[in-house]
Amino acid sequence: MGQSGIMSCRMEILLLIICAFCLQINYGSQENGICTAAEECQCMDKTSSSKLLNKGGTVVNADRQQQADIYIEDGVVVEVQPNIKVADEVRVLDATGKYVMPGGIDPHTHLEFPFMGQETIDDFFSGQAAALAGGTTMHIDFVIPINGSLAAGFEAYAKKAEKSCMDYGFHMAVTTWNEGVSRDMEILVKEKGINSFKFFMAYKGELMVKDELLLQGFKMCKALGALAQVHAENGEAVAEGQSRMIELGITGPEGHTLSRPSMLEGEATARAIRLAQFVNTPLYVVHVMSIDALDEIVRARQSGQRVIGEPIVASLVLDDSKIWDPDFTIAAKYVMSPPIRASGHNKALQAALSTGLLQLVGTDHCPFNSTQKEAGIIDFRKIPNGVNGIEERMHLIWDVMVNSGQISVMDYVRITSTACAHIFNIYPRKGAILPNSDADIIILNPNATFQISAKSHHSKIDTNVYEGWEGKGKVEVTISRGKVVWEHDRLMIERGSGRYISMPPFGYLFDGMDKIDSAYLSSLKAPVYR
Ligand code: URP
Ligand code: ZN
Ligand code: ZN
Repeated sequence: MGQSGIMSCRMEILLLIICAFCLQINYGSQENGICTAAEECQCMDKTSSSKLLNKGGTVVNADRQQQADIYIEDGVVVEVQPNIKVADEVRVLDATGKYVMPGGIDPHTHLEFPFMGQETIDDFFSGQAAALAGGTTMHIDFVIPINGSLAAGFEAYAKKAEKSCMDYGFHMAVTTWNEGVSRDMEILVKEKGINSFKFFMAYKGELMVKDELLLQGFKMCKALGALAQVHAENGEAVAEGQSRMIELGITGPEGHTLSRPSMLEGEATARAIRLAQFVNTPLYVVHVMSIDALDEIVRARQSGQRVIGEPIVASLVLDDSKIWDPDFTIAAKYVMSPPIRASGHNKALQAALSTGLLQLVGTDHCPFNSTQKEAGIIDFRKIPNGVNGIEERMHLIWDVMVNSGQISVMDYVRITSTACAHIFNIYPRKGAILPNSDADIIILNPNATFQISAKSHHSKIDTNVYEGWEGKGKVEVTISRGKVVWEHDRLMIERGSGRYISMPPFGYLFDGMDKIDSAYLSSLKAPVYR
């Protein structure tokens, strides 16, 4: 053996020793299955290989399912074909008998969100770790302005997200209106990869905006090709309802639900829809919780208006029964806005989702610990609003929608991933398993079971609104940008490895809008020259 041969052999032995050490650290430092010593995870055999072959599964896209292998290199899908042959150094994942699908995209999350005097307990690392353990490989978080400044809000969120371990994008909330805000909206769309703006019609005195701002905001969204989003509740009436409850001596979590009935969600949904119609811009209604809101969305869509409705896992699978629990900690964990509704709303939302009347599923993951919720122990108005879901969404939607026979596996892919990628204009890079798509992929075993508990979940929240749920259909492997990050109930993730996904304006919802505008203008028969 020559000098260079001896050198390379020594290097290999050294590498093996380091790797053995690393593996020890890896397993020795796990908490809830998270490998906290992230760099060390890189040593795990072929786990971090840049070449992967997914073999033998049923590959499902939103429009097609087939028996095929998937060859992945450097984070992207190279080939989707039956019987792909590869060299020995390629790691092979056997997916026989399992579904291989695009990783979930959660369109609605709040990580490190300063809200109601608290901050959500999951940061961009812990929230994303939870997401990956549940089969979600991208999320879109809501940036909150700082003192009304969108630019400052964006900078702050970009900083928070530096610790990311999976891909993410941003929506931007608009809470005030002035020239600086409209200028910032333009910069965010043209230079910073934001293509959606959220307007809160509730949370009076905090985030709420009035109709005048909604109109200005919608007009600006239309001009920029950005999607207008609304939290639809009548915030004035909610404030009135809250005072009414307090006057009646109802100070517990049930007061939250009673103070903001579904008619207030329906009213605001209708109003936002009419204003978007008046401006002729597409509208996205976040966290659809009730039949009242659903009815307005369906009516608008039937009349040809471009309205997207996003139910969340909580509105689809929970009901309001727990809010009357005598234990404050249990009841308070279900406090969110709009509230989780009485049984019956959930079934109607499921049916609407299964028939395409609603288009995609979010979580509104907004986790506050039980101690944070205690801020409202004597006054429900101070309970920080929000529930968990980023980790549970893929499992629960499978269990409730696919296992019940309400939707096909292709529909599952559409509502958990592809529709979101289309709406936010990142398809087919995301939301599909196609050559050149990012290799964000899950392997789901339809015969394996899952259990949900705060004891074993990966979010930092100390409770779980889905506590005790047992179901069938488990995400056994999550691949994020070509790396196996979840396998054998263990996470192998790297702080800082996640990437910001720029989302370009003028997605498909804007196609043809100019023609509708022209038709409107030529229908006016005005001005009349007298
Ligand atoms: O209760 C909720 N939904 N908390 C998060 C903020 C929002 O309204 O989306
Ligand atoms: Zn909201
Ligand atoms: Zn939200």
